[in-house]
Amino acid sequence: MPRILQFLQLNSTNAYAKEHAKELENGDVVCAEEQTAGRGRFNRKWISAQGGLYFSVLLKPNNTRHLPNLTQLMALCICQTVRELGAPAQLKWPNDVLVNNQKLSGILSEVVLEQNRFYALVIGVGINIRQADLSQVGQPAVSLEALNIHIRRQDMLARLLERFNARLPKALAEGFASFGEEYKALFPYIGRTVCITAGGGKTAGTVRDISSAGTLLLHTQQGLQEFSIGDMNA
Ligand code: BTN
Repeated sequence: MPRILQFLQLNSTNAYAKEHAKELENGDVVCAEEQTAGRGRFNRKWISAQGGLYFSVLLKPNNTRHLPNLTQLMALCICQTVRELGAPAQLKWPNDVLVNNQKLSGILSEVVLEQNRFYALVIGVGINIRQADLSQVGQPAVSLEALNIHIRRQDMLARLLERFNARLPKALAEGFASFGEEYKALFPYIGRTVCITAGGGKTAGTVRDISSAGTLLLHTQQGLQEFSIGDMNA
C-alpha cells in the first residue's frame, strides 16, 4: 500500500519528494498543510497557505513511455472528483482544473534523475479547498469552499488517490489513449481561439483537437502546429 507522509509544513512537497526519492517507494505520497516555497509551472510561485491541499505522488514506473500523460491523468481525476462533488469543473490543457474559468487546481510534475537517467516522477498537486484568501494568487482562482463544497483535505486526497491509482496501470501501458475521450469531454476549448506560450514564444490559433498522444493541435497562420508542453491562455 502506498504510504501518505503528512507534514504540518514543508518548503515544497515536490522538493521533499525529490530529495527523498531514494527512501520513498513507488506510489508514496508527501502531503503538507502549508508550503513556505510552493512552486508552480514555469518557475512561478504557488501560494500555499493553510486550507489548501498540497501533495506530491512519487512514481517509479518501469515503463517511461507515457510519463507526460500521467500528469494529464491526474488532472482528469481531479476534475472528475470535483464534478462528483457537484462543481462544473473543466480541464485547461495540459493539466489545470478550472471552475467557471477560475483556477481550482494546478499540477507541477518533475523528474528525478540518477546518473543522468530517469529515476522517478514526482507529480505535485495543489487544490484550493478552503483557503481564507486567494487574492495573492495572481490569476482568477476559486476554492471548493467558495463553491459551497465542504470536504476535508484528507477525504479529498483519499478519493483522488483511489481514482488515480485505479487508472494508473492502464495509463502507464497505453498512455493518453486510455483516458483521452474522458479528458476531451471535459476540455471545452476545441474550436476556440487561444494563445500558447511555449519555448519562449507565443503562438495564437484555434484549437483543433487534442491528439491521441495528449498533445495540443492548433490551427495557426503557419498551418497546423503541435504542442506537447506549454501554457494555454484563452
Ligand atoms: C501550476 O499550476 O503552476 C502548478 C502548481 C503546482 C503546485 C503543487 S502544490 C504541491 C506541489 N509542491 C509544489 O511546490 N508544487 C506542487
